[in-house]
Amino acid sequence: MQFFDLKNKTALITGASSGLGEQFARILSAAGARVILSGRRLDKLTALVQDLKNAYPLEMDVASKSSVQRAFETLETKGEKIDICINNAGIALETSLFDSDDQNNFENILKTNVMGVWHVTKAVANHMKKNNIQGSIINIGSVNGDRVPALHGAAYSLSKAAVIHLTKTLVGELAPLKIRINCISPGWIKTPMLGSNAHKVIPHIPYGDIPEPDSLDGLILYLASNKASKYVQGACFTIDGGISWGGKSWGD
Ligand SMILES: NC(=O)c1ccc[n+]([C@@H]2O[C@H](COP(=O)([O-])OP(=O)(O)OC[C@H]3O[C@@H](n4cnc5c(N)ncnc54)[C@H](OP(=O)(O)O)[C@@H]3O)[C@@H](O)[C@H]2O)c1
Repeated sequence: MQFFDLKNKTALITGASSGLGEQFARILSAAGARVILSGRRLDKLTALVQDLKNAYPLEMDVASKSSVQRAFETLETKGEKIDICINNAGIALETSLFDSDDQNNFENILKTNVMGVWHVTKAVANHMKKNNIQGSIINIGSVNGDRVPALHGAAYSLSKAAVIHLTKTLVGELAPLKIRINCISPGWIKTPMLGSNAHKVIPHIPYGDIPEPDSLDGLILYLASNKASKYVQGACFTIDGGISWGGKSWGD
């Protein structure tokens, strides 16, 4: 049985222009899915489309309700049917209690990481309900939203805690429609978001190194596939090389 065959499935990936989102697009495309790559930087999305089979770029700012509504109107007009949605778009900025927040980092994190997941989940859940699609929604949380709160990262940590709890909360409305919603909480992964912080975090990783984005391939395929994870609902999978094991607060 082809557990991870995603032929005839369409996946929408937010934040597909970089890091984890780009890799999610690559692995879902390799498994046979049509992939809709969304983000704000259309140039990056268009470049990735050239590289993949059956891919399509979609400009969508998840922090803007009207941008999400416009993007879903475009999808519906084109007759797209979304089976898999990965809420991956996110930002990580410092929010120290004792520093000024001139750039509104706190608010911007909540707008992107929490409201963004809400806007897209609401739009895609309604799309799936209307089209009788037994879909899979996968949210990207973080160990910072669970066992490992980030120092100077109150907004980021609480935004990811919100994503984890939103995932669990929505099961009650989605499961009766056979729409699945689950969450992945990664530790540190080598992407532009990690930037030059690798040397700071390695001592906190029992496994001893920081993996590439493809370390999530197996879990993404598992959760995307109704055949592989048919009964999995409201689960949050930690994939962190053992970081959560210590369970203590750390930062610089
Ligand atoms: N890397 C890690 O160690 C790590 C660990 C735990 C969790 N995560 C989570 O994994 C997800 C992906 O992170 P990453 O490491 O791949 O970071 P990244 O390389 O910085 O990519 C972030 C992506 O989010 C998109 N994005 C940001 N704001 C957006 C908005 N308002 N609307 C639409 N797209 C937006 C960006 O696209 P545009 O700029 O083109 O819009 C970009 O594609 C995030 O949710 C992050 O919190 C990452």
